[in-house]
Amino acid sequence: MTELIDGNAVAEQIRTDLQDSIETLADAGVRPGLATVLMSDDPASETYVSMKQRDCEEVGIEGIHVEIDEDAPAQELYDTIDDLNADPEVHGILVQMPVVEQVDKRRVLRSVDPEKDVDGFHPENVGRLVAGDARFKPCTPHGIQKLLEHHGVETEGAEAVVVGRSDIVGKPMANLFVQKEPLGNATTTVCHSRTADLAAHTREADIVVAAAGVPEMIDGEMLKEGATVIDVGINRVDADTEKGYELVGDVDFESAKETAGAITPVPGGVGPMTRAMLLYNTVKAAGAQQG
Ligand code: GUN
Repeated sequence: MTELIDGNAVAEQIRTDLQDSIETLADAGVRPGLATVLMSDDPASETYVSMKQRDCEEVGIEGIHVEIDEDAPAQELYDTIDDLNADPEVHGILVQMPVVEQVDKRRVLRSVDPEKDVDGFHPENVGRLVAGDARFKPCTPHGIQKLLEHHGVETEGAEAVVVGRSDIVGKPMANLFVQKEPLGNATTTVCHSRTADLAAHTREADIVVAAAGVPEMIDGEMLKEGATVIDVGINRVDADTEKGYELVGDVDFESAKETAGAITPVPGGVGPMTRAMLLYNTVKAAGAQQG
């Protein structure tokens, strides 16, 4: 039987585990604060940010949301980040990606205070992650590590294939897999759009992390029997539904589950874990900023 990896259940556990730290901070008069900043009219981004704000409310984190008109000058975003950096009640700052084209993305990543960079995207934090001294692990790869841990999937000595080389998922995932630490020690391959023979790699993998943003690109034929399959894709494809679309992963679930030993669904797999680890990083940031 293929095991279904339930991200909602593991995320709930992580939120519950956070309560102790949130209470300890409350005893010291501190309520963790997370600012989300959205400068985009992408409906998916709007949904993600509103879910992140709802999560904050549920666990006792102060959510602050700043929305900037997509046509506004980039300076408005840079000024917003400066203000949030200076605000002692804001412990974490997340600028939802992608940002509109007039904005210099690299400047945004550099300008968030590294101690408030709960995404782990600031160059200093990327460097620390690569050096094995992470301050904040990026939320999606960290969430995937937690999913693997909760399901007893051994990474040490495993062949891990990461499909996709984004700064948000693929690269940090590969970096975590190669670290000399309990949820690392995997032999790691990163595949991407120029990989000559993707299936030749995925068929050797004990763990496949699909994060390329291509709907249903990985099917059961491309997997090793019993592999653990983690699907990061959340692709909106046209469909005859009320909303006019449906969400599909980067993995063809029906086909892949015939071969996989364990697999995450979309939705309800990686997505809730990304959100849970954002809460985790925010509480960690609030604790670290107390002196
Ligand atoms: N866009 C897609 N995933 C993420 C994420 O984890 N953080 C931010 N800031 N933007 C995203």
